[in-house]
Amino acid sequence: MTNKTHTEERTEATEAQIAVHWKEEQYFQPSKAFIEQANMRDPDIRKKFGEDNFPDCFKEYADMLTWSTPYSTVLDTNNPPFWKWFTGGKLNACFNCVDRHLAQYRNKAAFIFVGELEEDPPVALTYQELYVRVNEMAALLRDFCGLKAGDRVTLHLPMTLDLPITMLACARLGVIHSQVFGGFSGQSCGSRIQDSGSRILISADAYWRSGKLIDHKVNADIAVKTAKEMGQEVDKVLIWQRYPGKYSSPAPMVEGRDFFVNDVLERYKGKRVEPVSMDAEAPLFLMYSSGTTGKPKGCQHRTGGYLAYVAGTSKYIQDIHPTDTYWCMADIGWITGHSYIVYGPLLLAATSVVYEGTPTYPDVRRPWRIAERLGVNIFHTSPTAVRALRRQGPEEPRKCNYHFKHMTTVGEPIEPSAWRWYYEEVGKGEAVIVDTWWQTENGGFLCSTVPALDAMKPGSAGPALPGIYPVIYDDDDKEVPKGSGQAGNMCIRNPWPGIMQTIWGNDQRFVDTYYKRYCKNPKSKDWRDWPYMSGDGAMQAEDGYFRILGRLDDVINVSGHRLGTKEVESACLTVPEVAEAAVVPVMDEIKGRVPDVYVSLTPGAENSDDIAKRVVKACEDMIGKIARPRQVFIVPDMPKTRSGKIMRRVLGAISNGRDVGDVTTLANAAVVDEIRTMVQGKQAASGEGQPKQ
Ligand code: WTA
Repeated sequence: MTNKTHTEERTEATEAQIAVHWKEEQYFQPSKAFIEQANMRDPDIRKKFGEDNFPDCFKEYADMLTWSTPYSTVLDTNNPPFWKWFTGGKLNACFNCVDRHLAQYRNKAAFIFVGELEEDPPVALTYQELYVRVNEMAALLRDFCGLKAGDRVTLHLPMTLDLPITMLACARLGVIHSQVFGGFSGQSCGSRIQDSGSRILISADAYWRSGKLIDHKVNADIAVKTAKEMGQEVDKVLIWQRYPGKYSSPAPMVEGRDFFVNDVLERYKGKRVEPVSMDAEAPLFLMYSSGTTGKPKGCQHRTGGYLAYVAGTSKYIQDIHPTDTYWCMADIGWITGHSYIVYGPLLLAATSVVYEGTPTYPDVRRPWRIAERLGVNIFHTSPTAVRALRRQGPEEPRKCNYHFKHMTTVGEPIEPSAWRWYYEEVGKGEAVIVDTWWQTENGGFLCSTVPALDAMKPGSAGPALPGIYPVIYDDDDKEVPKGSGQAGNMCIRNPWPGIMQTIWGNDQRFVDTYYKRYCKNPKSKDWRDWPYMSGDGAMQAEDGYFRILGRLDDVINVSGHRLGTKEVESACLTVPEVAEAAVVPVMDEIKGRVPDVYVSLTPGAENSDDIAKRVVKACEDMIGKIARPRQVFIVPDMPKTRSGKIMRRVLGAISNGRDVGDVTTLANAAVVDEIRTMVQGKQAASGEGQPKQ
């Protein structure tokens, strides 16, 4: 991705420059009240986690867990870049999240579920009750489904408590869960079933979203069919019912294959399952994420290192105490939800809120009513949500009587004006904010302020976390110094416990994607020779704070969710009339970026609105609604280099209303003007820059 040709073709270069031109912002200090109660107040923390004490510094995180067998080695670097953490140690993730809290916190809420319909009161699930449900579910998975440690199971669940219960039941058995975001299509789910080799799919009948009870079972049927076409049989489909005992989907249940979880659970009432002691290095879960090729990669996360890292970062960066009521508004189907709705908060015996629906349903004051009603004091969301809530209800937060001590943003760069609204209006000037930068691959935060110790600076993710040593490289492998005003490739020099183990079933792709580019010596067993390449552009200010500028590769970040341009393009190419497709990111006021699609047609195909509609449908069906293009442009030809490469940079510039630069070297320069006229005409007609949905 960093070779010259590719650099020229990428569309993000100019966006990065725009971000670079954000001016330096003033600092905001954490309040005395926050500092006094913070988990991490040691001003020497970064020194303690400094290179002199690496990797042993991470023992502090491992000690937050309960091990059935203590580990013997902190970091094993024998087979770079396949690092091993806490080897020799054994533990069970579910035991750590649930069982060990019972003595002290048995009847404290582990989760509070808030359904989308406001007339349904919130439901608290205590640690004891969670223990009971997880055990029964684990018994079902083991005895009814025949699942055992090391097996994979695909979950395609919406945001109800059935999801964390199922995850923890898997973890209790050492079964590797692979939760696919509930909003992804049945086909997306099917290809992930196939890739992970799951024989069991766990799904749901329906869930509430924007005031509608959405049929979800239909996706299970599509998923099983897709997996089968790809060569993976699914033996059993388990369906959680949104209303236990009542089936809320019109899709028929397939005899002998489909089962209602609530029915089968009857047989396992009161059953207890011993937590299976797993090697620290045993995989805990897979989380598929988009990359530069069409095929999503299954990021494989380990048990010991991952849990240690999320426990440590939840404690020090999220400042979670067992007495806190913590609400992360993300979906558990993304890494943020795995690490910072389920595993992190539960490891610390906190109360974690799970909200089913859209933040703006039935109105834009909803999140603040929830916060007031539940007494939420730690709040975590994305810049996209902040922008939307601000635009639709800038003064709503002050109408509700809640008090946050701490707030988080994650997933995209947040522009300083949105940050300030978040701080002043949502946080009422009382709460600290951490802007946390990290990725699915990373398990937990990599850059953020340590909230009681570092001043906040709007628009900057802050310095690296304790124990993380970043470096920014330019395209010529040279380090970009801090304060230089230059951007480059954000890399991490060292391994850390939360880093993924590999890409499921594809070690080579793992090495190629993250380590090949900046590896100093492929034969070396010294971690210093193996920087991790994040794929993000970044710059570091004089004060050491990092500003993340966005993806440098072919990934579009829509509302903080990653979409591979190749994935969207291959969906477009399933429409028979489409000969070529190019997808480019367009700036969007709320979502950060949205995809614009350009297609050219096969000879003889008639240009029609119907084709554009089918392209949109193909994206939604094959990926999910988040992949819905803002616009589909049917162009007479793609702008191409003489060697025949589609110039996405040119299309990106047109979509964003920017100067296309020098196009004289193109094979077909004349088409650029034609496309520009077409796009700008259409944008003027549909309201420039507005997403369609
Ligand atoms: C982007 C989400 C700026 C970045 C946890 C990264 C951010 C991608 C931030 C990962 C942030 C995440 N500031 N950009 N605080 N956090 N990103 O895998 O481009 O869904 O590479 O993980 O989101 O997205 P992913």
